[in-house]
Amino acid sequence: MRTTLIITLWLAMAWTGCAGEGTLEEVDPDAAPQTPTYAEHIAPIMKHRCTACHAPDAQPGEVEGYGYETCDKVVLYWQSIEDTVFKVSSMPPAGAERLTSSEKLTLRRWERQGLDCGNSP
Ligand code: HEC
Repeated sequence: MRTTLIITLWLAMAWTGCAGEGTLEEVDPDAAPQTPTYAEHIAPIMKHRCTACHAPDAQPGEVEGYGYETCDKVVLYWQSIEDTVFKVSSMPPAGAERLTSSEKLTLRRWERQGLDCGNSP
């Protein structure tokens, strides 16, 4: 009986852990790549989370003039990511899926490694 309860609680905790909530400090450091590259890790995150709305060919057009569809633009508009994703969590907007904690950690590590574009434009 008690074992069932413990297993249930453990499952509940494991489940919420996967939901991508929580602060960066709580993220398992192994949950994100140690040395993320633009092509392999950053581009897919931006494509998945931002460019559906922020790119010239996006559904609503390039919202507010911000585009994140190339590495140059991600670097150029990095401060806007800092503000909307990390500081106030306003982007992606309510209703759209937010970045998971490991995606945020991936962005952070890439920033700390110098926002390196590699061979990507
Ligand atoms: C579902 C569509 C959608 C997605 C996805 C989305 N945005 Fe936005 N974004 C908008 C809209 C609409 C506005 C303008 C109105 C507003 O501010 O809500 C906006 C405004 C902005 C602005 C300028 C206004 C401000 O709040 O400072 C920035 C910067 C921004 N988005 C960054 C991002 C980033 C970075 C991502 C990905 C992590 C992202 N957005 C994902 C729709 C989206």
